[in-house]
Amino acid sequence: MRTDRSIGNGEPTADEVLRTTRAVRRRLDLERPVDHALIEACVEVAMQAPTGSNMAGWHFVVVDDSAQRAALGELYRRAWEDYRKLPIAAGNIRTGDPAKDATQQRVMASAEYLAENIDRVPVHVVPCIDGRFDRAPSWISVPMLSSIIPAVWSFMLAGRARGLGSSFTTMHLRFEEEAAEILGIPYESVTQVALLPVGHTIGDDFKPVPRPPAASIIHRNRW
Ligand SMILES: Cc1cc2nc3c(=O)[nH]c(=O)nc-3n(C[C@H](O)[C@H](O)[C@H](O)COP(=O)(O)O)c2cc1C
Repeated sequence: MRTDRSIGNGEPTADEVLRTTRAVRRRLDLERPVDHALIEACVEVAMQAPTGSNMAGWHFVVVDDSAQRAALGELYRRAWEDYRKLPIAAGNIRTGDPAKDATQQRVMASAEYLAENIDRVPVHVVPCIDGRFDRAPSWISVPMLSSIIPAVWSFMLAGRARGLGSSFTTMHLRFEEEAAEILGIPYESVTQVALLPVGHTIGDDFKPVPRPPAASIIHRNRW
């Protein structure tokens, strides 16, 4: 597999897609509809992801109806209003490093924009997995959750390769049961894991972001 070509200059390489799939919020095209076939193609890619015991159990609820999106948007904003006041909210974290704090402020402003405009994003995708594991021990809940998250990330990567952008969001889960009611998801037996607001991106010149050196988080042979 090649690693030396650029997005916009022929087929992107796997590394390029992996390095440039960002949380896209402000650069989602709110006016341009997204063809359902494009979403289906991304789900098809996502379905190649690994799952515990090869159980799959995935569901992707694709919401392009404007009334349904408005209902989800109302939930999302209600959760956002509470979250933004918490010390763990991106904009309230103070690291002591001015550059990092400035980044956190930018993330917060971008997330604020999304909260304000989420119902205008052409498609909401709610990935779900069969089963509930709210009170399960980690040896159950971790494999359950890990059986859907790789598929969600694959969906986002497949979108990036097709000119679609999104952001992994979990805000609406605060009111998951209400979202289940809106979408007709059987809450007792199916767990929602995210809400991906999906649209065509405005431009596609997304860049890798600064991260610490890999060596700083690798624990070789032991912690
Ligand atoms: C588990 C998880 C939950 C997230 N929840 C939200 C959310 O509710 N709203 C939002 O705007 N972004 C959310 N994000 C996106 C992060 O803010 C974003 O990934 C992070 O700022 C890093 O940006 P990058 O993905 O472009 O590197 C979430 C990301 C993850 C992995």
